[in-house]
Parts: sequence; C-alpha cells; structure tokens
Amino acid sequence: MNEKLNKIVSDVKEQLALIKDENSFRNLKSSVLGKKSEINDMMSSLRDLPTEERPRMGQLINETKTLLSELFNLKDEELKSVELEKKLSAETIDVTLPGINVPSGSTHLLKNVIEDFEQFFIGLGYEVKEGPEVEFDNYNFEMLNIGKDHPARAMHDTFYFNENKLLRSHTSPVQIRTMLKAKGKPIKIICPGKVYRRDDDDQYHSHQFMQIEGLVIDENITMGDLNGTLNAFIKYFFGEEKEIRLRPSYFPFTEPSVEVDVFDGEEYIEILGAGMVHPNVLEMAGYDSTKMQGFAFGIGVERLAMLKYEVDDIRRFYTNDVRFLNQFKGGRK
Ligand code: PHE
Repeated sequence: MNEKLNKIVSDVKEQLALIKDENSFRNLKSSVLGKKSEINDMMSSLRDLPTEERPRMGQLINETKTLLSELFNLKDEELKSVELEKKLSAETIDVTLPGINVPSGSTHLLKNVIEDFEQFFIGLGYEVKEGPEVEFDNYNFEMLNIGKDHPARAMHDTFYFNENKLLRSHTSPVQIRTMLKAKGKPIKIICPGKVYRRDDDDQYHSHQFMQIEGLVIDENITMGDLNGTLNAFIKYFFGEEKEIRLRPSYFPFTEPSVEVDVFDGEEYIEILGAGMVHPNVLEMAGYDSTKMQGFAFGIGVERLAMLKYEVDDIRRFYTNDVRFLNQFKGGRK
C-alpha cells in the first residue's frame, strides 16, 4: 500500500511537470483526487484491512492526499502567474507607434460671427434674446406698422402656413415680443436668428438667412446713440480702417430710418437697416411715445461674414463643404 501511494505521488509529480494549460490541469486533478480516483478507492478498501492496521493506513492515505493537494496548489499558482505574464506582455502599449488621426469638427463661421457680435454687445450691457421662426402675421407685420396692404409686404414675401402664421421675414417681431413683455420698461436687447423670404437664390441672396436684431428703449434715446453704437461695432468688427456709409432710407417701423453700407474695395454693400422706433410701434406695444424713445437695427449675419472673411458666395455657408469650413477653424481671427 505504501508503495502504491509513493507511486501515485511520483506519477503525479511527473505528469504535473508536463502540464501547461488549465484544462489538462483540471482533468489530472479530478482523476487523482476526485471520487473515482485510485486514492479514493484505497480509502474505501480500508474496511477490508484488519482493524489494527486501519488507523495507520488511514493516516498515511490522508497525508498523501494532503501532499497531493499541495502539489496541485503549487502548480495552480504557477499556471496562473504564467497566464498573467502572457496577458501583461500582450497588453503592452507601444508608445512609439504612429497615432490614429481623429478628424475634429469646428464651429461654423456664421456661429463665430454671431458669437463675436454677442461678445461686443454683451459688453455694452445688452441681453441676448430669441424668438420663434414660425411667427404671427401680427408680430411680423401689423404691430411693426406694416398693414395688410402695405407695399413693404412685397419685399417681405415669405412662406405662409395660413393667413396668420408664417416663417418670419426678419427678426424685428422679437422687438414686439420683447416690448409686450417689458410692459413700458426700458429695453436693451440683441436677437440673432434665422429669417425667410421668397427670394431667388444667387450669390448674395438666399431664401433663408440670418439676422441680428437690436433694440434699445429708454428715455432720451437719440439718433446719436444709434450712430455711436453702430460705428463702435463696425470698428470693433472690421477694424478702424473700414469705411462705412449711412444712407437715409425707409422702414415702416422706424422714423427716421437709415441703411448702413460697408465698402468692400469695389463697391458699397448694404449690411444693415436701422432707425428710431416709430411712435406707432411704441404705442401699439404699450409705450408712451412722448416719454420713451428707442432705436432699432437689423443686421445681416451672412453679409458681415462675407465682407470680413472675403467669402464670394452666400451659398458656401449652407453647403457644408469642409474644405471651405476648415478655413475658419478656431473662431475669431
Ligand atoms: N427688419 C428690417 C429688415 O429686415 C431691418 C431693420 C431692423 C430696419 C430694425 C430697421 C430697424 O429689412
């Protein structure tokens, strides 16, 4: 019996030395220590021995079992550390390999221009407001002193949902919305947003474009304030040397009205309309026009961008050609 046990131990040692993977390790372990193992059979056959020999043999078998378990434990640890080694060396990062270039996006040029604009006017204490693109006829026209049969409607022909709802043709309805909410209190806002017109698209025109509205209402606001504000902005945006021209003009909702043109080296390009808020507009929105005055302006965002960044065609802003867009990465220049 003793010999048999020794043989089991030495066989196991031999076989363990050859084992390199988990599977064969587990198979060997269950065949050596499991229920159907030789050593288990020996344990069962103890009862066939004479009573006085049983304790000694029992002890011997148990000691062998313990020894075998230890051998298996050692091998188990060895296998695990080999496995870990393998994993670690497989996961090593080679920092000298070339990187994978992930193309990065950027903000749109029009967005940059709007942010630049906001930056300047926030500095002057203006609040940034927004209004809906689907607007009431009443706010887009009537309350801006443009009645149903006013000729100015022709220039502002737009897309109608029904008689009272349309895609706004300018950002000026936000003036009305703001005044109605302010209930006679002073106002100082700008409002960027998309506007729509029934226009044939060409190099300078699009049926959808962007404007930024400005509105200031308080006591003692004059044309001088408007002039100073616009000039300061133009100089901030284009630089001191850019030439501009104020031209008398007409809008139903301002009186007097002006248009501002910027010289692009060849010709003057109109970029904004402005004027003193018409008393009718003030009164309709609940302001006492004998006590409060205001100025308003509406500036074309695409025009600003085209002039400053020398973009030759308004359609480039909307076609999302990255060769174009990438030239303006990195915001204000
Ligand atoms: N809303 C006018 C337009 O789109 C521009 C404007 C705004 C003119 C505010 C005067 C005052 O043509």
